[in-house]
Amino acid sequence: MYDCYCRHTPSIKLPLAFIILLFSMAPLLAEGRMLADASRQTQVAGRIIEVQNQCQIISDKISRSGYLSGSRVENAGIDTELSMLADIFSGRIIIVNSGFKIISDTFSLSEGKICIPEEVIRCFQGEITNKYNTQKHYFVLAIPISEAVQGPESASGGRTVGVMLVTASTESMLALEESLIDKASFFQLVVFVLLLILVSVVVYVMVKPLNRIAALIDKVAEGNLDVDIREDTYQETKKISKSLNRSLKRLKALEQSRQEFVSNVSHELKTPITSIRVLADSLMGMEDAPKELYQEFMSDISDEIDRESKIIDDLLTLVRMDKGTAEINIAPVSINGLVEMALKRLRPIARKRNIELIFESIREVTADIDEVKLSLAVSNLVENAIKYNKQDGWVRVTLDADHKYFYLKVADSGIGIPAEFKERVFERFYRVDKARSRETGGTGLGLAITRSVILMHHGAIRVESIEKEGTTFIVRIPLIYSS
Ligand SMILES: Nc1ncnc2c1ncn2[C@@H]1O[C@H](COP(=O)(O)OP(=O)(O)OP(=O)(O)O)[C@@H](O)[C@H]1O
Ligand SMILES: [Mg+2]
Repeated sequence: MYDCYCRHTPSIKLPLAFIILLFSMAPLLAEGRMLADASRQTQVAGRIIEVQNQCQIISDKISRSGYLSGSRVENAGIDTELSMLADIFSGRIIIVNSGFKIISDTFSLSEGKICIPEEVIRCFQGEITNKYNTQKHYFVLAIPISEAVQGPESASGGRTVGVMLVTASTESMLALEESLIDKASFFQLVVFVLLLILVSVVVYVMVKPLNRIAALIDKVAEGNLDVDIREDTYQETKKISKSLNRSLKRLKALEQSRQEFVSNVSHELKTPITSIRVLADSLMGMEDAPKELYQEFMSDISDEIDRESKIIDDLLTLVRMDKGTAEINIAPVSINGLVEMALKRLRPIARKRNIELIFESIREVTADIDEVKLSLAVSNLVENAIKYNKQDGWVRVTLDADHKYFYLKVADSGIGIPAEFKERVFERFYRVDKARSRETGGTGLGLAITRSVILMHHGAIRVESIEKEGTTFIVRIPLIYSS
């Protein structure tokens, strides 16, 4: 199941490498494209100027030679020049006269035909136009041929009497551009490979601390709870290891309390059985034991059996509450009545040591509780107050309430609990004075059960105590039970 989950889960390395590569390659790719575009534009512009200059020279010659009106034989030199120029630019030159008639075509295809494209018309209006076709890689240039003027006006030229329409290819530049792109692509490829190697190293280094954490967690999974998960390479890994260490500490505490519980259970269960065995063995070892001794030993054995069954009952109660399977039978119950009943049951024990049991009811309280379970909790508290009290002492139970909770205080004039053990008394099997507790038949489960019952009612319990002066347990439980 886990393996299958792993196989379908992508590694962080791949997206990380992809992002780094994308961010480093994107400007490079864009730059290559922009460089090629800029180079092409500059070259085309240069070629247009070059063609324009050359054509202007011939245009001037045409203008002076009377080419437009003279015979072609006389102007054969100009025709040759036009052809040569057209060849150099891999293009075509057409001369159009003022009647829009083609009088010369270097391709010798359209002579005598009428030619009135937009460029020619605009050129007759005195405008030099050029148009570049980016798809087919050629440009069209229209250059005016002015009327030859004698005298001072000759510098500025006369009116336009003809147009030189030049079409030139830029294919040769394309080859240059392609070679430039090829070079750029090669450069990009080299950079890409270098980046790939660099990114792989960076990603490996970045992910390494995570792998180290994973290895440490694996050790924990193998049962080694003493591992110190420390990975301070990045702030994030520091945070993760801190949280993991905290969880590990909790796990260790839980494991320790589990082990303690198991060893306590076995010890507590074995103690009465050992006593029974010792008592039974000594009886069996005596040949003519007097009847009184038999009775005494048998009564001790019976006490030990009672103790064993009390431990088992208490343990079962606790385990049921722990698993959360214990049923809770909530009903409105008079808490005053419940406390009075508990005190009535315990009065005979208190009387034995002349301990006064006082119930101080500040108000009548009715609350939604489980009567059986809460009676047990209250009895445990009062029983402790009697057990850990001194001769002729007192136990005072106070009941009060506000609009939300009722409060039960069980105070005694007993031996008290040393401050360092105050919180531990709620632990299972914990007893401050082991010998005294055993004397009084205690198993150390009473307060653990009491606390579980109170927590089931969404309440709280705390203890205040002064050694040799007395102890007060304070319980707070909501009047209305909400599941
Ligand atoms: N009112 C009290 N005054 C002084 N010490 C107390 C008081 N209540 C509890 N303790 C201490 O806390 C320990 C735990 O109490 P807890 O009721 O859980 O066990 P126990 O009384 O020993 O056994 P049992 O399971 O029979 O109740 C006791 O052993 C005792 O040392
Ligand atoms: Mg007790």
